[in-house]
Amino acid sequence: MIVAVINTKGGVGKTTTCMYLAEAARRAGRRVTVWDADPQGSSLTWSDQAAADEAPIPYSVVGVHQRRLTRAAATQAGGDVLIDTPPGDPQIISRAVEAADIAVVVTGPGGADVERAMETMDHYTGTTPALLLLTQYIKQEKDSWTTWQSLRSSDYPVFDTRIPRRAAIQRSYGATIDDDLHGYERLLDEIVHVLDELNAEGDSDG
Ligand SMILES: Nc1ncnc2c1ncn2[C@@H]1O[C@H](COP(=O)(O)OP(=O)(O)OP(=O)(O)O)[C@@H](O)[C@H]1O
Ligand SMILES: [Mg+2]
Repeated sequence: MIVAVINTKGGVGKTTTCMYLAEAARRAGRRVTVWDADPQGSSLTWSDQAAADEAPIPYSVVGVHQRRLTRAAATQAGGDVLIDTPPGDPQIISRAVEAADIAVVVTGPGGADVERAMETMDHYTGTTPALLLLTQYIKQEKDSWTTWQSLRSSDYPVFDTRIPRRAAIQRSYGATIDDDLHGYERLLDEIVHVLDELNAEGDSDG
Protein backbone atom coordinates (compact mmCIF):
# COMPACT_ATOMS: atom_id res chain seq x y z
CA MET A 1 0.00 0.00 0.00
CA ILE A 2 1.05 3.57 -0.65
CA VAL A 3 0.17 6.09 2.06
CA ALA A 4 0.61 9.88 1.91
CA VAL A 5 0.81 11.58 5.30
CA ILE A 6 -0.24 15.20 4.92
CA ASN A 7 -1.42 18.49 6.39
CA THR A 8 -0.64 21.96 5.09
CA LYS A 9 0.00 22.94 8.71
CA GLY A 10 3.43 22.33 10.21
CA GLY A 11 4.29 20.50 13.39
CA VAL A 12 1.14 18.38 13.63
CA GLY A 13 2.92 15.00 13.68
CA LYS A 14 3.33 13.97 10.03
CA THR A 15 6.93 12.79 10.33
CA THR A 16 6.24 11.04 13.63
CA THR A 17 3.23 9.30 12.08
CA CYS A 18 5.27 8.11 9.07
CA MET A 19 8.06 6.71 11.19
CA TYR A 20 5.80 4.96 13.73
CA LEU A 21 3.53 3.57 11.02
CA ALA A 22 6.58 2.24 9.20
CA GLU A 23 7.76 0.53 12.37
CA ALA A 24 4.28 -0.92 12.93
CA ALA A 25 4.29 -2.23 9.35
CA ARG A 26 7.73 -3.78 9.80
CA ARG A 27 6.64 -5.51 13.01
CA ALA A 28 3.60 -6.83 11.17
CA GLY A 29 6.02 -8.51 8.76
CA ARG A 30 5.47 -6.07 5.90
CA ARG A 31 8.19 -4.68 3.70
CA VAL A 32 8.18 -0.93 4.10
CA THR A 33 10.03 2.16 2.92
CA VAL A 34 9.60 5.74 4.08
CA TRP A 35 9.82 8.28 1.29
CA ASP A 36 10.87 11.62 2.67
CA ALA A 37 9.46 14.16 0.23
CA ASP A 38 9.98 17.06 2.63
CA PRO A 39 12.91 19.21 1.46
CA GLN A 40 13.63 19.73 5.18
CA GLY A 41 14.38 16.02 5.35
CA SER A 42 13.03 15.36 8.84
CA SER A 43 12.55 11.62 8.38
CA LEU A 44 16.00 11.38 6.81
CA THR A 45 17.53 13.29 9.71
CA TRP A 46 15.73 10.98 12.16
CA SER A 47 17.15 7.96 10.38
CA ASP A 48 20.66 9.44 9.99
CA GLN A 49 20.77 10.35 13.65
CA ALA A 50 19.80 6.84 14.69
CA ALA A 51 22.47 5.39 12.40
CA ALA A 52 25.08 7.76 13.85
CA ASP A 53 24.12 6.50 17.32
CA GLU A 54 24.68 2.96 16.08
CA ALA A 55 21.04 2.06 16.48
CA PRO A 56 19.92 2.20 12.84
CA ILE A 57 16.25 2.33 11.93
CA PRO A 58 15.29 -1.18 10.77
CA TYR A 59 13.57 -0.10 7.54
CA SER A 60 14.73 2.17 4.80
CA VAL A 61 14.16 5.89 4.71
CA VAL A 62 14.99 7.59 1.43
CA GLY A 63 14.79 11.12 0.18
CA VAL A 64 12.54 11.45 -2.86
CA HIS A 65 12.49 14.43 -5.19
CA GLN A 66 9.03 15.56 -6.23
CA ARG A 67 9.68 14.46 -9.84
CA ARG A 68 9.88 10.88 -8.57
CA LEU A 69 6.70 11.18 -6.53
CA THR A 70 4.61 9.08 -8.87
CA ARG A 71 2.37 6.09 -8.47
CA ALA A 72 4.53 4.13 -10.91
CA ALA A 73 7.68 4.78 -8.91
CA ALA A 74 6.01 3.95 -5.61
CA THR A 75 4.61 0.72 -7.00
CA GLN A 76 8.01 -0.17 -8.38
CA ALA A 77 9.56 0.32 -4.94
CA GLY A 78 7.58 -2.76 -3.83
CA GLY A 79 6.03 -3.31 -0.41
CA ASP A 80 4.53 -0.44 1.54
CA VAL A 81 5.58 3.12 0.83
CA LEU A 82 4.84 5.82 3.40
CA ILE A 83 5.30 9.35 2.09
CA ASP A 84 6.29 12.10 4.53
CA THR A 85 5.40 15.51 3.12
CA PRO A 86 6.24 19.14 3.88
CA PRO A 87 3.55 21.44 5.27
CA GLY A 88 3.86 24.34 2.88
CA ASP A 89 4.44 22.95 -0.60
CA PRO A 90 1.17 22.46 -2.51
CA GLN A 91 2.82 20.72 -5.43
CA ILE A 92 4.60 18.12 -3.34
CA ILE A 93 1.47 17.47 -1.28
CA SER A 94 -0.61 17.04 -4.46
CA ARG A 95 1.89 14.71 -6.06
CA ALA A 96 2.17 12.60 -2.91
CA VAL A 97 -1.61 12.26 -2.68
CA GLU A 98 -1.90 11.37 -6.37
CA ALA A 99 0.72 8.65 -5.95
CA ALA A 100 -1.02 7.18 -2.90
CA ASP A 101 -3.80 4.65 -2.28
CA ILE A 102 -4.85 6.59 0.80
CA ALA A 103 -4.03 9.87 2.54
CA VAL A 104 -3.72 10.25 6.30
CA VAL A 105 -4.48 13.86 7.26
CA VAL A 106 -2.86 14.40 10.64
CA THR A 107 -4.25 16.89 13.14
CA GLY A 108 -3.56 17.79 16.73
CA PRO A 109 -6.34 18.90 19.08
CA GLY A 110 -7.48 22.51 18.83
CA GLY A 111 -9.72 24.43 16.47
CA ALA A 112 -6.99 25.93 14.29
CA ASP A 113 -5.35 22.55 13.64
CA VAL A 114 -8.62 20.88 12.79
CA GLU A 115 -9.67 23.69 10.48
CA ARG A 116 -6.43 23.31 8.54
CA ALA A 117 -6.85 19.55 8.42
CA MET A 118 -10.34 19.93 6.95
CA GLU A 119 -9.05 22.48 4.43
CA THR A 120 -6.35 20.01 3.51
CA MET A 121 -9.02 17.35 2.98
CA ASP A 122 -11.03 19.70 0.78
CA HIS A 123 -8.17 20.98 -1.35
CA TYR A 124 -5.86 18.06 -1.76
CA THR A 125 -7.47 14.69 -1.45
CA GLY A 126 -9.55 14.73 -4.66
CA THR A 127 -10.28 11.17 -5.68
CA THR A 128 -7.82 9.59 -3.24
CA PRO A 129 -9.50 8.19 -0.12
CA ALA A 130 -8.51 10.24 2.91
CA LEU A 131 -9.18 10.08 6.63
CA LEU A 132 -8.38 12.42 9.49
CA LEU A 133 -6.09 11.22 12.26
CA LEU A 134 -6.20 12.88 15.67
CA THR A 135 -2.82 12.86 17.40
CA GLN A 136 -1.43 14.39 20.58
CA TYR A 137 -4.69 13.44 22.24
CA ILE A 138 -5.06 13.68 26.01
CA LYS A 139 -8.12 12.01 27.43
CA GLN A 140 -8.54 14.36 30.41
CA GLU A 141 -8.06 17.52 28.36
CA LYS A 142 -11.10 19.52 27.30
CA ASP A 143 -9.57 20.62 24.00
CA SER A 144 -8.84 17.02 23.07
CA TRP A 145 -12.34 15.92 23.92
CA THR A 146 -14.13 18.72 22.07
CA THR A 147 -11.86 18.23 19.07
CA TRP A 148 -12.65 14.51 19.00
CA GLN A 149 -16.39 15.20 19.24
CA SER A 150 -16.27 17.77 16.45
CA LEU A 151 -14.32 15.41 14.20
CA ARG A 152 -16.73 12.55 14.85
CA SER A 153 -19.76 14.69 14.13
CA SER A 154 -18.24 16.19 10.98
CA ASP A 155 -18.84 14.89 7.47
CA TYR A 156 -15.20 13.86 7.17
CA PRO A 157 -14.06 10.29 7.62
CA VAL A 158 -11.99 9.89 10.79
CA PHE A 159 -9.80 7.05 12.02
CA ASP A 160 -11.15 5.50 15.24
CA THR A 161 -7.60 5.33 16.52
CA ARG A 162 -6.39 8.39 18.39
CA ILE A 163 -2.69 8.78 19.08
CA PRO A 164 -1.98 10.07 22.60
CA ARG A 165 0.42 12.87 23.44
CA ARG A 166 3.35 11.15 25.09
CA ALA A 167 6.79 12.32 26.13
CA ALA A 168 8.08 8.95 24.92
CA ILE A 169 6.87 9.72 21.39
CA GLN A 170 8.55 13.12 21.43
CA ARG A 171 11.78 11.63 22.75
CA SER A 172 11.86 9.00 20.03
CA TYR A 173 12.84 11.53 17.34
CA GLY A 174 16.25 10.50 16.02
CA ALA A 175 16.19 7.08 17.66
CA THR A 176 14.85 3.60 17.04
CA ILE A 177 11.29 3.21 18.26
CA ASP A 178 10.91 1.20 21.45
CA ASP A 179 8.35 -1.52 22.18
CA ASP A 180 5.31 0.68 22.70
CA LEU A 181 3.82 1.91 19.43
CA HIS A 182 1.23 4.05 21.27
CA GLY A 183 -1.67 3.01 19.03
CA TYR A 184 0.12 3.27 15.69
CA GLU A 185 -0.20 -0.52 15.39
CA ARG A 186 -3.99 -0.08 15.52
CA LEU A 187 -3.80 2.73 12.98
CA LEU A 188 -1.97 0.39 10.61
CA ASP A 189 -4.72 -2.20 11.03
CA GLU A 190 -7.35 0.43 10.30
CA ILE A 191 -5.59 1.60 7.14
CA VAL A 192 -5.27 -1.97 5.88
CA HIS A 193 -8.93 -2.56 6.68
CA VAL A 194 -10.11 0.59 4.88
CA LEU A 195 -8.11 -0.34 1.79
CA ASP A 196 -9.45 -3.92 1.86
CA GLU A 197 -13.00 -2.60 2.00
CA LEU A 198 -12.37 -0.19 -0.87
CA ASN A 199 -10.89 -3.00 -2.94
CA ALA A 200 -13.86 -5.23 -2.18
CA GLU A 201 -16.26 -2.46 -3.25
CA GLY A 202 -14.23 -1.91 -6.39
CA ASP A 203 -14.45 -5.63 -7.20
CA SER A 204 -18.21 -5.80 -6.69
CA ASP A 205 -18.69 -2.65 -8.78
CA GLY A 206 -16.71 -4.11 -11.62
N1 LIG B 1 1.85 11.91 19.85
C1 LIG B 1 2.81 12.78 20.18
N2 LIG B 1 3.12 13.00 21.47
C2 LIG B 1 4.09 13.89 21.82
N3 LIG B 1 4.82 14.60 20.94
C3 LIG B 1 4.55 14.42 19.63
C4 LIG B 1 3.55 13.51 19.18
N4 LIG B 1 3.53 13.55 17.82
C5 LIG B 1 4.46 14.44 17.45
N5 LIG B 1 5.08 14.98 18.54
C6 LIG B 1 6.11 16.00 18.56
O1 LIG B 1 5.62 17.17 17.92
C7 LIG B 1 6.62 17.80 17.14
C8 LIG B 1 6.17 17.86 15.67
O2 LIG B 1 6.05 16.52 15.19
P1 LIG B 1 6.47 16.14 13.70
O3 LIG B 1 7.84 16.60 13.41
O4 LIG B 1 6.15 14.72 13.52
O5 LIG B 1 5.44 17.06 12.91
P2 LIG B 1 5.39 17.40 11.36
O6 LIG B 1 3.96 17.60 11.02
O7 LIG B 1 6.14 16.39 10.59
O8 LIG B 1 6.16 18.78 11.33
P3 LIG B 1 6.66 19.57 9.98
O9 LIG B 1 5.42 20.16 9.41
O10 LIG B 1 7.61 20.59 10.53
O11 LIG B 1 7.30 18.57 9.10
C9 LIG B 1 7.87 16.96 17.34
O12 LIG B 1 8.62 17.53 18.40
C10 LIG B 1 7.34 15.60 17.74
O13 LIG B 1 8.26 14.86 18.53
MG1 LIG C 1 7.71 16.62 9.22
